[in-house]
Amino acid sequence: MQNFDAATVTYKFLAPFRGEAVSPPPVWLMRQAGRYLPEYRATRAEAGSFLDLCYNPKLAAEVTLQPIRRYGFDASILFSDILVVPDALGQSVRFAEGEGPRLDPIRDVAGLARLDLSKTGSKFALVWETVARLRQDLPPETCLIGFCGAPWTVATYMVEGRGSSDQAEARSWAYRDPDGFAQLIEVLTDASITYLSGQIEAGANVLQIFDSWAGSLAEDEFERWVIAPTTKIVRALRARYPHVPIMGFPKGATSQLKSFVAATGVDGVSCDTSCPLSIMRDVADAGKVVQGNLDPLLLVAGGAALDRRVDEILAALKGRPFIFNLGHGIVPETPPEHVAQLVKRVRRGA
Ligand code: CP3
Repeated sequence: MQNFDAATVTYKFLAPFRGEAVSPPPVWLMRQAGRYLPEYRATRAEAGSFLDLCYNPKLAAEVTLQPIRRYGFDASILFSDILVVPDALGQSVRFAEGEGPRLDPIRDVAGLARLDLSKTGSKFALVWETVARLRQDLPPETCLIGFCGAPWTVATYMVEGRGSSDQAEARSWAYRDPDGFAQLIEVLTDASITYLSGQIEAGANVLQIFDSWAGSLAEDEFERWVIAPTTKIVRALRARYPHVPIMGFPKGATSQLKSFVAATGVDGVSCDTSCPLSIMRDVADAGKVVQGNLDPLLLVAGGAALDRRVDEILAALKGRPFIFNLGHGIVPETPPEHVAQLVKRVRRGA
């Protein structure tokens, strides 16, 4: 367990990182800002494209604050996207309406010439400005989470040119030419360290590294493309900013969760919906913070089924360093009043 300094100890959100179980636990939700909120849709329309919103510090800060105003979550997550990193590196990203991200794919070492680490500064600076604004505008008790995508997951979008269900192009390149693929992972690892360092300097109190496609890799590949780069990021940040906790989210990789936590040195992990509560308990008992893992579709369903599962999760993790969250992001179909129901239920004992 890290020894987090006095400057940050006032946040209830950080208590689990000091090994303290708090009841009720802190609560925030992945994608708590987004299309399920009418006020988000209004600001998004004002901004223009999705990336225009990510690079507009005033409006990005506004959409970050919207769910805090509504629900009073214990933490707020910077509004941005994991694909800001390839965009800033020079592989421009477009978000086609209703279709998700599109990039001109990089499929081999020759394509890496399109990326330039030295050019990321101007776009990263806009995100850092959002963080600085937020740390000023957020309620003093609300923790601010910075984030990036893990190198493996970001690479899958860069190589496929879009989201995919099996990440086949990235996996194939990694088998065909591991040393070439390693160069892409290295560029992303270095860019992520720069990007996250800037977020901390601007005021982020905690970090989360999203590895949404960690579950598609074989054991040795998981070691090389998930564990190794994550470890490098954690070590670099820990050396410079020992007081800032780092959460990992190796989604879909429950069977490797314990080795991921032990090897990378993260302070905690987000657990997806398929992760058994017994495994979350084991990870917490090993001294790490666990976060999760309510099914986002139960938040769409609402009602007694939602309350029942919230109670089950709370009971299973009671007395351990735990943060309430979903197993993945809020989906656009979610009725906002169900989010209010969830927060009320989690805080029932308060
Ligand atoms: O509130 C928050 O959680 C912070 C903001 C945030 C977004 N994306 C906003 C967003 C965060 C942390 C992310 C992370 C992200 N982005 C991940 C990792 C987590 C995960 O969901 O697995 C990934 C894989 C991406 C890439 C991405 N961004 C995709 C595949 C899409 C399209 C899918 C979709 O929902 O449309 C996005 C777009 C995106 N990122 C939206 C939001 C609110 C919707 C875009 C819109 O408003 O039009």
